[in-house]
Amino acid sequence: MLDWDDPIAPFKSGDTTARSASTRALLATEALAAVERAEQAGAGEAPPAAVAAAPAPARAPAADDDLLDGDHGVTGLEELEFGARRIAVDDKKMINCQADLNQLVPFKYKWAWQKYLDACANHWMPQEINMNADISLWKDPTGLTDDERTIIKRNLGFFSTADSLVANNLVLAVYRLITNPECRQYLLRQAFEEALHTHAYQYCIESLGLDEAEIFNMYREVPAVHNKAAWALQFTQSLGDPTFNTGTLETDQRLLRDLIAFYVVFEGIFFYVGFVQILSMGRRNKMTGVAEQFQYILRDESMHMNFGIDVINQIKVENPQLWTEAFQKEVIGIIREAVELEIAYAHDTMPRGVLGLNAKMFEDYLGFIANRRCAQIGLPEQYPGAGNPFPWMSEVIDLKKEKNFFETRVTEYQTGGALSWD
Ligand SMILES: [Fe+2]
Ligand SMILES: [Fe+2]
Repeated sequence: MLDWDDPIAPFKSGDTTARSASTRALLATEALAAVERAEQAGAGEAPPAAVAAAPAPARAPAADDDLLDGDHGVTGLEELEFGARRIAVDDKKMINCQADLNQLVPFKYKWAWQKYLDACANHWMPQEINMNADISLWKDPTGLTDDERTIIKRNLGFFSTADSLVANNLVLAVYRLITNPECRQYLLRQAFEEALHTHAYQYCIESLGLDEAEIFNMYREVPAVHNKAAWALQFTQSLGDPTFNTGTLETDQRLLRDLIAFYVVFEGIFFYVGFVQILSMGRRNKMTGVAEQFQYILRDESMHMNFGIDVINQIKVENPQLWTEAFQKEVIGIIREAVELEIAYAHDTMPRGVLGLNAKMFEDYLGFIANRRCAQIGLPEQYPGAGNPFPWMSEVIDLKKEKNFFETRVTEYQTGGALSWD
């Protein structure tokens, strides 16, 4: 029988039955040998610290191992090494880490854990938001102009598939290559939030009775929507090969490029024309339910982007060789190209100007946003003098969860609040 207070007791007492039933790896560990040596020397009960202090087995995790070029990080799927030395904070690294990924603590990146806690504290569900006013307005033939309807449909078209692209990038490309458990914890939370966002868009589409096929196919049928989605997909595809690994200058830069494309561009630039358009409607008391959904999504996205920027900057600190002049130029090119795509999206979604907004204002705004994104990852600003025509956007991002911006309802979240036990 295994003694749960002292699981390695049989090995210490020389119970050979237990030994033969266990793996060779157990007997081979230096840690066990150290325990036995300590007992033979009359050191009494070996405290757990003795295991931690035991000499490391040959393949013990260590951040200071001299990695050969091409040595990628662990994934968390490796064989467990019984008695391997314990994880130290300094073993942990954002990419290409060699230390066990299945232990959350000790924390190295406390900001990542804090962001996970903050994200959980912001929990919300799409069906908590009242859509009745939107449904009446949408069904009223004189309720909205054609241009306003175009804005609603194009944005639901873009976002309804965009969040699947983000989730796929997280789950199928990025997660495996980020070799830090506290960051992975946030990635798991983010992945769930992306599912909630897709849920929210679907909830809007369903509530308004829109043609689902028309909306969900826009990324294959409407050029301005298609171009943004296709642009982002190439970065996921670059990492999506299951045999792809980091560990060389070229492959580490590929990961960094993907992170910049998704966190800085996709979530940090491509979402902003749509957010401003929909939130402007809400500010004019139109489509307040859809606007409220977008408002919560914007708050989540702002956290995703800030998390991603912290990860990108941490990778730069730990791997300064990646941030070459050529790579910086390439990233600037990526950001400038993205701004052009987003300006085209602004023109496409509001060809004539609507709600006191026009495409020219978005050109200015996108320059302003792109300058901020550049500064956040340590690049020079690219659009001198670009101003912010929508200062109210920052209020929305900083929204407190207790009360929503349009004062339609109090949305303090309660776990299980939507359940009826009857
Ligand atoms: Fe999202
Ligand atoms: Fe996101």
